[in-house]
Amino acid sequence: MAADDHEFGGQHTEIKLELVGKYLQAYMSALRGKFDNLWYIDAFAGTGSRTVRVEASDGDLFDAPTPAAVESRRGSARIALDIKPAFDRLVFMDADPAHCAALEALKEANPHREISILNGDANRLIQGEIKWNGWKRTRAVMFLDPYGMEVEWETLRAIAATRAIDVWYLFPLSGLYRQAARNITAVDESKRRSLTRMLGTDEWERELYSPIPPVNDLLGGLEPTESRQRNADVAGLEQYVRQRLETIFPLVMDPFPLPPIRKPQRFSLFFAVSNPSTAATDLAKRFGGHILATGRSSHVRSR
Ligand SMILES: C[S@@+](CC[C@H](N)C(=O)[O-])C[C@H]1O[C@@H](n2cnc3c(N)ncnc32)[C@H](O)[C@@H]1O
Repeated sequence: MAADDHEFGGQHTEIKLELVGKYLQAYMSALRGKFDNLWYIDAFAGTGSRTVRVEASDGDLFDAPTPAAVESRRGSARIALDIKPAFDRLVFMDADPAHCAALEALKEANPHREISILNGDANRLIQGEIKWNGWKRTRAVMFLDPYGMEVEWETLRAIAATRAIDVWYLFPLSGLYRQAARNITAVDESKRRSLTRMLGTDEWERELYSPIPPVNDLLGGLEPTESRQRNADVAGLEQYVRQRLETIFPLVMDPFPLPPIRKPQRFSLFFAVSNPSTAATDLAKRFGGHILATGRSSHVRSR
């Protein structure tokens, strides 16, 4: 396996990268010349490339048959690197040393670009290093693209506190509905801790769960039950996450469902803005809103 061989995702990977890539392009076209320092921060950067297995097709009247193939396509780091006008600085973080080695090779291949590669847990790196008084003259887009529930609430809070960063966050909705099981008795201490770490409050238990109504016993009487069950379905959980994000970000757009049509929904791609100024939120609403709406009309035909 090559150092940058990184196979993950499916159709939802293509779509999330398409949406984020379009935003990066719109952002740089609009802000170039208005700020001295425009950065891209990829906190779960991967290797810069991704390996995609393309299935063979039989062909039809219009298209010739194609054999199965393994293709290397651009990952988020390369997509950001290729944006023109160019970002002034790119910061790539990844916990996997092999992925960082592949990112180092990408950096070596682009000696004229300012690229920083940080090997470690993105939560520790962001919480430890993001506080900085230079944010007044710097703006950034950050992509949070974890495999699962790795992003801590404190990390989001630290990003929001910069008031300078727009964030695309691939939220692991399936992680949330699996950990926050229907019946609270199935949510053990370790699940409780990871939910609280991801949502930033232990109030989720009171807000998402309610007592199970008494059941009829064999003699027709009502027998109280000890337990509580989650009221929110998948859409309700997504709405809950949005409300949580709105407690720290001045603007959170309607999330994009991934996969877009096939059930179950596994992720919600959130776009949130940390700069509360009207100019920043208006611009982000215009670009983010347009990109999300175009994505919906081309990918979410029927829900
Ligand atoms: C879904 S992949 C990212 C793919 C990338 N955005 C792309 O388009 O190529 C998730 C990455 O997060 C890294 N990772 C997992 N846990 C991490 C953590 N706590 N901090 C930083 N990186 C982490 C993995 O090594 C993996 O490279």
